[in-house]
Amino acid sequence: MMDASVKMDAPFEHSLLDESPMPTIGREIARIDGPRKVSGAARYAAEHFPEEVLHGVLLRAPVGCGRISLVDATAALAMPGVLAVIRDERMIRNAGDFGGDAAPVQGVEEVAYFGQPIGLVVADSLERARAASLCVRVSFESQPGVFDMMAARDSALPPTDDIFGLFLIHTEQGDVERAAGEAQALVDTVWETPSQNHAAMEPHASVAIWKEGRLTLHGSYQSPVVTRDQLATVMGLPPSQIRVLSPFVGGGFGGKLGVMPEAVAAAIAAQQLGRPVKVVMTRQQVFETTGRRPMTRQRIRLGANSDGRLTLVQHETITDQLEGEVFFEPAGLATHLLYAGENRVVDHKVVRTNKQLAVSMRAPGEAVGLLTLECAMDELAEALSLDPIELRLRNEPKSHPEMDMPFSSRALVDCLRQGAARFGWERRNTSPGQMRDGDWLVGHGVAAAARGNLFGPSRVRATIQGDGRVVVETEMTDIGTGTYTILAQIAADLLGVPLKQVEVRLGDTDDPRSAGSGGSWGATTSGSALYAACAELRARLAAAAGACVDAVTLTDGILTAPGISRPITELVGNGLSVEGATEPGESNRRFNQTSYGAHFCEVRVNAVTGEVRVSRWTSVFAAGRILNLQTAISQAIGGVVFGIGGALTEELVHDPRTGKIVNRDLGEYHVPAHADIPAIDIQFLEERDLVANPLHAKGVGELGVCGAGAAIANAVYNATGVRVRQFPITLDKLL
Ligand code: MOS
Repeated sequence: MMDASVKMDAPFEHSLLDESPMPTIGREIARIDGPRKVSGAARYAAEHFPEEVLHGVLLRAPVGCGRISLVDATAALAMPGVLAVIRDERMIRNAGDFGGDAAPVQGVEEVAYFGQPIGLVVADSLERARAASLCVRVSFESQPGVFDMMAARDSALPPTDDIFGLFLIHTEQGDVERAAGEAQALVDTVWETPSQNHAAMEPHASVAIWKEGRLTLHGSYQSPVVTRDQLATVMGLPPSQIRVLSPFVGGGFGGKLGVMPEAVAAAIAAQQLGRPVKVVMTRQQVFETTGRRPMTRQRIRLGANSDGRLTLVQHETITDQLEGEVFFEPAGLATHLLYAGENRVVDHKVVRTNKQLAVSMRAPGEAVGLLTLECAMDELAEALSLDPIELRLRNEPKSHPEMDMPFSSRALVDCLRQGAARFGWERRNTSPGQMRDGDWLVGHGVAAAARGNLFGPSRVRATIQGDGRVVVETEMTDIGTGTYTILAQIAADLLGVPLKQVEVRLGDTDDPRSAGSGGSWGATTSGSALYAACAELRARLAAAAGACVDAVTLTDGILTAPGISRPITELVGNGLSVEGATEPGESNRRFNQTSYGAHFCEVRVNAVTGEVRVSRWTSVFAAGRILNLQTAISQAIGGVVFGIGGALTEELVHDPRTGKIVNRDLGEYHVPAHADIPAIDIQFLEERDLVANPLHAKGVGELGVCGAGAAIANAVYNATGVRVRQFPITLDKLL
């Protein structure tokens, strides 16, 4: 059943959101799910305790490449409370990302990376399962593996799949060699960015329950429906036989986009043993056995003529991934469109390594691609003796530089100008290494932010109940981003009911399918589907009242039109339910849709120790209409914090002999802590994107991280005169 659909056919000159007499949209509204979270009433995956539940602990490979030659579970099975040691080929299959069906990475006997799941020990308590897992004797024949991407980079090949046609493996135009020869200023630089872990607060956890032939899985997933479909493929079941529930998710950042090993293991064990099975990953297992952002080696060559106009833009990325997996880090994504210049090459290649699965991590592509491009722009500005903002202004393209496409909206110039004024850019240190405050060298940096505004078909059911309360239901998740609140705001504004009268139900695959939480598309796609549902409900209310829908105002539960005033409870009978959907259209085909921003920061670098402290920060963004200023600012701050971690501290270190991650916990893998983060000043510009969708909004979630690390690296250069091209910028690289 689907009653109303909005197709993305630009322009949407008019938005019903502008007509609400008591708008909540755009305001700073605290999360409506906040009280449930802080009081403990919000139940996360691991907090489900079905009767008779058993506990599973993953067995994992202690070699990086090889074959299993022997599994002896005799001792483990003899321990008290131990029910089974399960080894099942399906358990090894690992989809891990948001694209399509599950893709097996290897067979049950072969080990492709250190920490790969090879079985599950199930017992009647977690402690017993863990103790038994230590007593399973597994022998391996170790084989030589590829653990060092840089050393193996001559084996790099193009990726096998251009994911959704979005990642643009290779584009070229003009003649880059000739442009390089003729350029008045040229930078040709090589950068390295490390593997990273998503480090979501809540570790991956699943509770699987089989009842009457149907599997219910409580899991921590960004897209329950993708998880369901991948799990169905792995289990050999029709998707309708599986229900995945993820109403609360303690962060994802890409690490929970696709099914992960704990869900598969729990489902198999529960099926086999006829009792519910819970598998909760330890932090070390999350680091080793879920997914990571892959490392990259990026060559960036930029050439300009003497007036600072780019003639050459070249960005070649090598990244790493397991054999057989399709995801790759599309580091050149923003390079296609950020700056003008007629001679261009953007290219991606993949080295197959025996390291943990590489998956999307917050702003896959832009996060590490802008980290390097925006530093290279800083180097080019210096080579031209131009202010780095001025260089960017001179290379502002009028339309997409590689495709015959206008931008749906693009306020990069405004972000740079207003950010500069807000930050006080004109007072910056203009010559590197010259500003000192005691032992501290002070520097300032700027970088642009850009993140594609992506689209995914979404559905939402909206119901006005007989008592006037509104219920919004969709499989969409809230991973901490504010979905509950934003959807409630849209329904409240469009149906004219107080916010507290709206209930939002999320994260259940039995509800209408969404695009999930990923790629910064959640609020706009689910929001647009809800918009369609509410527009249809308005039409039905108007018809019931005998009014013309265009003349109707809905306020505080009352429908008014010339000569008409009726409570909506009188118009809905026992309740009125509508399912709304979004579909892609001309807006997606004919326009480039991107959110933009500019970061400005001050760093202080200790002249004795090389320690870097970020001391001041301003970011200005333009992402269309901001649906909730508070949740948007929180997303932006979170993104900047991600950027600070990426620039200065975060690095997964793989042992080059085995691929084992040696810093596999939050003690050794350094995400920024509170003391690392200054007050972060965020401004969103007033913008309406009339092309993107009827909300006039674009994506926000990943925008903050894009370019943030480059602003820091540029500030560190400005402070010290040292250009570090291997991230993170740890103190040893500055001394
Ligand atoms: Mo995001 S990396 O698409 O969750």
